[in-house]
Amino acid sequence: MSRKLKLYLFLLLLANQNHVLAQHDDLFFQGFDRVRNNMSLNGAAKIKKNGLLSLTNDSHSILGHAFYSRPIKFKNSSNGKAFSFSSAFVFAVVPKYPNLGGHGLAFTLSTSSELPGAFPRQYLGLLNKTVDGSFPGHIFAVEFDTHRDYDFFDINDNHVGVNINSMVSNKSVPAAYFLPDSEKKELNLTSGKPIQAWVDYDSFKNQLEVRLSPFSTKPIHPILSIDIDLSNILNDSMYVGFSSSTGLLTSTHYVLGWSFSVNGEAKSFSISSLPSLPGTKNLLVLVVCVSVASTFVIILGIATSLYLFRKIKDGDMIEGWELQVGPNRFSYQELRKATGGFREKELLGFGGFGKVYRGTLPNSDTPIAVKRFCHESRQGLREFSTEITSIGRLRHKNLVRLLGWSRRGGELLLVYDYMPNGSLDKYLFEKPKAILKWEQRFKIVKDVASGLLYLHEEWEQTVIHRDIKAANVLLDSELNGRLGDFGLAKLYERGSNPITTKVVGTLGYMAPELTKTGKPTTSSDVFAFGALLLEVVCGRRPIEPKALPEELILVDWVWDKWKSGAILDVVDPRLKGEFDEIEAVLLLKLGLMCSNYVPKARPLMRKIVRYLEGEVALPELIAAPDVYDGENAAAKTDSGDELKDHMYFYPLSS
Ligand SMILES: *[C@@H]1O[C@H](CO)[C@@H](O)[C@H](O)[C@H]1NC(C)=O
Ligand SMILES: *[C@@H]1O[C@H](CO)[C@@H](O)[C@H](O)[C@H]1NC(C)=O
Ligand SMILES: *[C@@H]1O[C@H](CO)[C@@H](O)[C@H](O)[C@H]1NC(C)=O
Ligand SMILES: *[C@@H]1O[C@H](CO)[C@@H](O)[C@H](O)[C@H]1NC(C)=O
Ligand SMILES: *[C@@H]1O[C@H](CO)[C@@H](O)[C@H](O)[C@H]1NC(C)=O
Ligand SMILES: *[C@@H]1O[C@H](CO)[C@@H](O)[C@H](O)[C@H]1NC(C)=O
Ligand SMILES: *[C@@H]1O[C@H](CO)[C@@H](O)[C@H](O)[C@H]1NC(C)=O
Repeated sequence: MSRKLKLYLFLLLLANQNHVLAQHDDLFFQGFDRVRNNMSLNGAAKIKKNGLLSLTNDSHSILGHAFYSRPIKFKNSSNGKAFSFSSAFVFAVVPKYPNLGGHGLAFTLSTSSELPGAFPRQYLGLLNKTVDGSFPGHIFAVEFDTHRDYDFFDINDNHVGVNINSMVSNKSVPAAYFLPDSEKKELNLTSGKPIQAWVDYDSFKNQLEVRLSPFSTKPIHPILSIDIDLSNILNDSMYVGFSSSTGLLTSTHYVLGWSFSVNGEAKSFSISSLPSLPGTKNLLVLVVCVSVASTFVIILGIATSLYLFRKIKDGDMIEGWELQVGPNRFSYQELRKATGGFREKELLGFGGFGKVYRGTLPNSDTPIAVKRFCHESRQGLREFSTEITSIGRLRHKNLVRLLGWSRRGGELLLVYDYMPNGSLDKYLFEKPKAILKWEQRFKIVKDVASGLLYLHEEWEQTVIHRDIKAANVLLDSELNGRLGDFGLAKLYERGSNPITTKVVGTLGYMAPELTKTGKPTTSSDVFAFGALLLEVVCGRRPIEPKALPEELILVDWVWDKWKSGAILDVVDPRLKGEFDEIEAVLLLKLGLMCSNYVPKARPLMRKIVRYLEGEVALPELIAAPDVYDGENAAAKTDSGDELKDHMYFYPLSS
């Protein structure tokens, strides 16, 4: 329906019935910048400068609500029948860590714009435990859920559902969309990219339909359709808007544009006309401009600037300090040749911060691994490069040797010994390429401990690794464990803004105090080492979204099993019971000790190596008598360096 026709019909209706005015509300918010006053926000919800509405941020267990500030009439007062309504909106879910999304968002009709008493996490900011299922009020929601909650019988961690006064969906389907030729395509809600959704309720057919698409055009076929009469579910007037939440895992939930119409069809959005998401250049606009204008001049201009840009970037710039660094500096051309021009075929993987290629050292047969990465800040890169000299001098049989480096513009290349057996994570998770035997696992753990002890205590200065995880443990030809990527995380903590330091680390390996202090210590390395110990024994990641809820967090699960005296239940079933029980208990117990919430109570690497070598017995591990209360608890807890016969364990979830 064209807008003119709509206006005409509207005036016609107005002439016949004068109470209809309140029933016809049309919203069309292309970004929320100019309608700040028309939105009622609460919780973490914010409207950013560029008009982007963010419902949550990457803090844990928060919720955000954004409703149109005035209630809208949803029912015909003379016969109590719900009106038809229609809404289109564009949203994006940006998970803090790829693969591990928070909880999702919901298009919501509610009698309250604040939803007092609602919970975050799996409740999406809509309801709470006590009222779920027996809700006296009126809530109708279409959820775009990115987390699987077994309590609510969720079908998966990427679905769309219709909820009525309850978190258990009346109907739900996996997120997907239809192409014009009716082909069904899967859609990843946590891709971080804008997705358009349409919710249409037809009060004649008593039918609600939901459509999704990553594009601007409304698909013909709905992905979810449900027969339902909302007349008894909606109140006379309702607030309409969005609700969202985060839990232990977080995503930032954005709404880029929103249109809504009662008794009419909501207008769709051209996604490229909406505010852009943080960190994304509006490439789409560029593409559209180019294709629409399509003038030769633009293309010529771009080609010329690209050419000039390349010419400048190609310069293999050497700066004063670099000349003093010594023999390990390769030229960019040498490394290019060594890797066959960074061919896809030579790609070993996406380790740590960049792509890793296999190559052969110039003028020899020595295989090498070349890690190639770009940095947003040249300043950061320059500062870091001065440290390569010292990192290059670190030598230990359980560290991957750094052979050399090269720099060109904003790109840094590091040359390492080639590790033919790849990284440890490939042997532990999902479909492992081989099952490591118990003796192999135990040996690798001891290797890593010995490499880490060298970094912490045995070199001329303390080196904090900052990113210990299975993916950074490499296996050489004899399956010896060697730590890679040491010292590198520092580069990434130096963002382009020297005042803000980014915390680098991987979820599940990151010590809890890091999110507060942002300052990595040897003790936060030990925490990560503990997580590594547990995964090697259990054969799974520290956080496993696909696991049962009580098994989601590996440390908590191991601790629960420890308390109930069934600790061996957690050992990797793929070992088929072939493992040394005493050693397994040792690793699990040590893993727990390293995972202590209280940093001071975690053992030092020196101690850990002695435990692993069987030189000292582990102290008794007992549940802390109280809840962690900062310094007091730390004082009561034994220092990790002392020899005591017991040790208090403060679990993560305390
Ligand atoms: C938004 O609020 C202003 C007053 O603050 C009002 O004049 C305007 O009509 C409202 N717009 C919509 C779409 O509700
Ligand atoms: C995120 O939202 C919470 C709750 O409103 C707030 O306390 C916190 O400061 C916000 N964090 C950021 C980074 O904006
Ligand atoms: C409301 O219901 C009355 C009685 O059924 C009907 O005449 C009227 O057209 C309805 N109004 C709208 C806007 O649907
Ligand atoms: C969805 O997208 C995210 C971010 O790109 C990615 O980490 C995740 O693996 C994707 N999930 C699926 C099921 O493809
Ligand atoms: C439902 O609507 C009526 C009439 O608009 C209002 O008086 C009542 O407070 C509403 N109920 C709730 C729970 O908001
Ligand atoms: C749950 O929500 C209801 C109403 O929304 C509120 O009265 C109640 O206090 C809340 N319960 C909890 C435990 O917060
Ligand atoms: C939807 O779910 C609610 C709560 O479980 C239930 O009361 C209602 O009957 C369901 N409605 C339909 C149409 O299935």
